Amino acid sequence: MIDTSCLAVILAAGEGTRMKSDLPKVLHPVGGRPLIDAVLESARAGGASRFAVVIGAGADKVRAHLGKVAANLEVFEQRERLGTAHATLAAREALVDHNGPVLVLFGDTPLVRPATISALSERLSAGADVALLGFETDAPTGYGRLIIKDERLVAIVEEKDADAETKAIRVCNSGIMAFRQGLLPELLDAIGNANAKGEYYLTDAIAVATARGLRAEAVIGEDESEFVGINDRAQLAAAEAIFQQRMRAEAMASGVTLVAPETVFFSFDTRLGRDVVVEPNVVFAPGVDVASGATIRAFSHLEGAKVAGGAIVGPYARLRPGADLAENVHVGNFVEIKNARVDRGAKVNHLTYIGDASIGARTNVGAGTITCNYDGFFKHKTIIGADVFVGSNTVMVAPVTVGDNALTAAGSVITTDVPPDAMAFGRARQDVKEGMGAAKKAMLAAKKASAKPAG
Ligand code: UD1
Ligand code: MG
Repeated sequence: MIDTSCLAVILAAGEGTRMKSDLPKVLHPVGGRPLIDAVLESARAGGASRFAVVIGAGADKVRAHLGKVAANLEVFEQRERLGTAHATLAAREALVDHNGPVLVLFGDTPLVRPATISALSERLSAGADVALLGFETDAPTGYGRLIIKDERLVAIVEEKDADAETKAIRVCNSGIMAFRQGLLPELLDAIGNANAKGEYYLTDAIAVATARGLRAEAVIGEDESEFVGINDRAQLAAAEAIFQQRMRAEAMASGVTLVAPETVFFSFDTRLGRDVVVEPNVVFAPGVDVASGATIRAFSHLEGAKVAGGAIVGPYARLRPGADLAENVHVGNFVEIKNARVDRGAKVNHLTYIGDASIGARTNVGAGTITCNYDGFFKHKTIIGADVFVGSNTVMVAPVTVGDNALTAAGSVITTDVPPDAMAFGRARQDVKEGMGAAKKAMLAAKKASAKPAG
C-alpha cells in the first residue's frame, strides 16, 4: 500500500519500569483515557492519517486495547527493548512502503496539542529534512538536551551521556519528530548503541543527519506543559494536573461557572453547555454531557450520563452509565441513578437507587425508594409512568410497571404491575392496641428495678 499522507509511528513498547505497575505504561489514564489514545488523537488531529504503533512490554494487553479503539492501525511488535531507534525500526515495513512524511511520537507524551504537531510538518514543507519539537524547562533532568548551532539542531545528548556543561542546557527533546519522505529507514540503520545505556537511541538520528549534511531543525514549543513525558507516578500525577487545568480553563472560557475550579475534575470527553453551574468537588468521569443551564451541585460523581437543561443534580448525587435526565429533572442527595431515563420535571430527591428503569414526566419518587433490578443472575426493568407518586421507602421488585398517575403507599414492596390511576398498598396493615405501650414500659421498668444489686 502506497499513500502520500503523513504516517505517525507511535512508540509504546517500553517496559515502563519506573511506573512499577502491572499495567503497561501507555494504558495508564490521564483525563480518563489511556495515554496511547491521547497520543493517537493528537497525531490524527495534527495531520496524520496512517498509524503504526510499536508495542512490546505488555503486548497482549496493549494489542487488545488498540483493537477496541481504531481499526485502521498497523501494530508492530518490538521483541527486545533495545531503545527508541530499535523500536522505530520494528515498524520498518510501514516506513518503507510509505510515500509521505513520517511523524514519530512517544506513547508516554499525551498532552501535545495538535497545532504544535502541525508546526513540524510546516518545517518540512519549508525545507527541513528533520524537524523536532523541543521545549525549554527549569527541570530538564531526564530529558535529552538539544545541541543547537546557528539555528540548526546538530545533536541530542541523553541525560545519562551528558557532561556537566550539557546538563546545564535547558532546551529539551519532547520526543516528537518529523522526517521527510523516505529518509527515516537509512538514518535508523546508521544508528549505533555506543552510549551509557547501550541502547539504539532515536535521538541519534539528528547527529547522523547532520553528519550527512542534512538539515535538522528544532521547533521550540511555547508551552512547556505540553511536553511532559510520563515515566513514573509523579509525572503521571503532574500530567493529570496539567490536563485538569486545561479543561477547567476551557470550560470557563466557554461559559461554564466553576465555583471552585480546582476542585472539579474532568475527563477528556466531558461536555458542558453554556451557563452550566458546577459547585465544588464534582467529578466528571468519562462520557458525560451536561446541557446548557443545568446545575451540578457539590460532591456529585457523574459517569456516562446525560443531563438536560434546567436539571439539578446533587448535592451528593451519583449518576452512573446510562443515566439520562430530561429537562428540569431534580436528582437530590444520596441518590444513585444507573441506566435509567428520567423524564421532564420528575423528582428523585432523597436516598434512592434507580437502576434499569424509566420514570415518566412529573413523577415524584419518595425518599428511600429502591428499584430491585437484579436477582443475582439477571437484570430487570422497572417502568414508572408519568405523574406517578411513589411513596417513601417503596421497593420496586423488577420486572414491574407502574401506570401513569398511580400512587404507591409509603413502605410498599411492589411486586406486581400497578395500573394507571390506581393506588397500591404492599405492606402489612397497621394494628393499634390501646394502652399496650404504657403497660409494656411499666413492666420493663419493674424488671430493671428488681434486677438492681442491693446498696
Ligand atoms: C526519551 C528520549 C529523550 C526525551 C524524552 C521525552 C530517547 C533515547 N530519549 O527519553 O531524549 O527527552 O523521551 O519524554 O529517545 N520505547 C520503546 N522501545 C524501547 C524503548 C522505548 O518502544 O526499546 C518507547 C517507550 O514505550 C516510550 C518511548 O519509547 O513511549 C520513550 O521511551 P522512554 O524510555 O520513556 O524514554 P525517555 O527516558 O523518557
Ligand atoms: Mg519517557
